[in-house]
Amino acid sequence: MAKTPSYICQSCGAAHSKWSGRCDACGAWNSIVEEVPLSSGPAAKSLGTKRGKGMVLNDLAGSETPPPRETSGIAELDRVLGGGLVPASAILVGGDPGIGKSTLLLQAAASFARSGVSCIYVSGEEATAQVRMRAGRLGLSDAPVRLAAETNLRNILTTLEKEKPDLAIIDSIQTMWADNVDSAPGSVSQVRAAAHELTTFAKRHGIAVVLVGHVTKEGQIAGPRVVEHMVDTVLYFEGERGHPYRILRAVKNRFGPADEIGVFEMTGSGLAEVSNPSALFLGEHETPQPGMAVFAGIEGSRPVLCEIQALVAPTPHSQPRRSTVGWDGGRLAMILAVLESRCAIPFSGLDVYLNVAGGLRVREPAADLAVAAALLSAREDVALPPKTVIFGEISLSGALRPAAQAENRLKEAAKLGFSSAIAPTQSRSLKIEGMAVRPFPDLAALVGDIFGAG
Ligand code: TYD
Ligand code: MG
Repeated sequence: MAKTPSYICQSCGAAHSKWSGRCDACGAWNSIVEEVPLSSGPAAKSLGTKRGKGMVLNDLAGSETPPPRETSGIAELDRVLGGGLVPASAILVGGDPGIGKSTLLLQAAASFARSGVSCIYVSGEEATAQVRMRAGRLGLSDAPVRLAAETNLRNILTTLEKEKPDLAIIDSIQTMWADNVDSAPGSVSQVRAAAHELTTFAKRHGIAVVLVGHVTKEGQIAGPRVVEHMVDTVLYFEGERGHPYRILRAVKNRFGPADEIGVFEMTGSGLAEVSNPSALFLGEHETPQPGMAVFAGIEGSRPVLCEIQALVAPTPHSQPRRSTVGWDGGRLAMILAVLESRCAIPFSGLDVYLNVAGGLRVREPAADLAVAAALLSAREDVALPPKTVIFGEISLSGALRPAAQAENRLKEAAKLGFSSAIAPTQSRSLKIEGMAVRPFPDLAALVGDIFGAG
């Protein structure tokens, strides 16, 4: 039999028989740590020939009623959950340290508890006194949430089984420690074991479980992706530290639409809901400045307009800088390449900085055209036309592809006082009152028309 592997990649969970600097399976560096793998011991032996129990097989048709949902009363949270909390479901809430996960979940716990959902909040990171102090500051002390500071999974499960709450919040999964696994808390084996125990416990006992997970600097929930597969719903809580706005984003939801967002503002007394975020990420400028473009975006089911800012400056270095905040670096490189090879506008020798205002992270490809326009505007030092929104996906050929929900984008822009839109040709037929659509077939046409270059 091969030697038992005991070196586990903390990024992908692959097992190796010896330590190395780079994981062959996923290519991550310095991610391999010695652990006692889950699969050692009797459980690792093959199932052998011993027969199991027969399964009950069912038909697809049946009269299942949709799951009943509990609402928290925090509308932004309920919407992201797909209309409320589904009993016996497992939810993972990920986010950078310090972004406000504990604050959000304490507020959610209090809100659920006040509306009659019995709730236990287990903190593995803070002492009871600390959580109490926070609750006091948030004005939640009177909410009937029950609180514990504990990291031992066995103790937690025993208590939950006895108390039978409707909802248990585990803050965080990285601090949990299952005594049947020999590695340190926070390691892949521990995180995986704890998540597995808690999710199966949720199903078996009909208790909804929320797991808080920290995100690594690469932007993934620390520990293997496998935790994301185990739970029913994965929410990311994101935002920039220096900005007050926070976005709760559903990236996976077995009980509702994925990609829905909830918007919050971090205030001195906790997170406040922002129920109409469409104008939140617009800048202050009345007249447009060079390097600034307004993207008419859609986040989940809602239109959100945001300002995209670009700065282009001659570089003193041989390797120019490309720096992005709120936008994918790979996608920026692609747009620069299209501008260079399809429109003959070179960016070599120029540092490029791209920023999405207000700490929003834009993931829609429909923002390509707004990014390109901001880059061009910055490079040519020419402001874009005033009161204009931009959207459209750029393909590698330089052609513009239509964006989903164009009508909604335009309607919201018109509502916020914009009067024209730069969009792909396909949006030509849309008639929105007060909104003139300027259709373009490709990026080169836009360059020629707006900047008189080409
Ligand atoms: P926290 O919920 O502890 O973050 P996480 O659990 O994701 O690590 O949030 C910590 C930050 O939130 C901290 O920097 C202070 C800020 N904060 C406020 O601005 N107002 C508040 O009312 C609270 C409770 C926190
Ligand atoms: Mg916390």
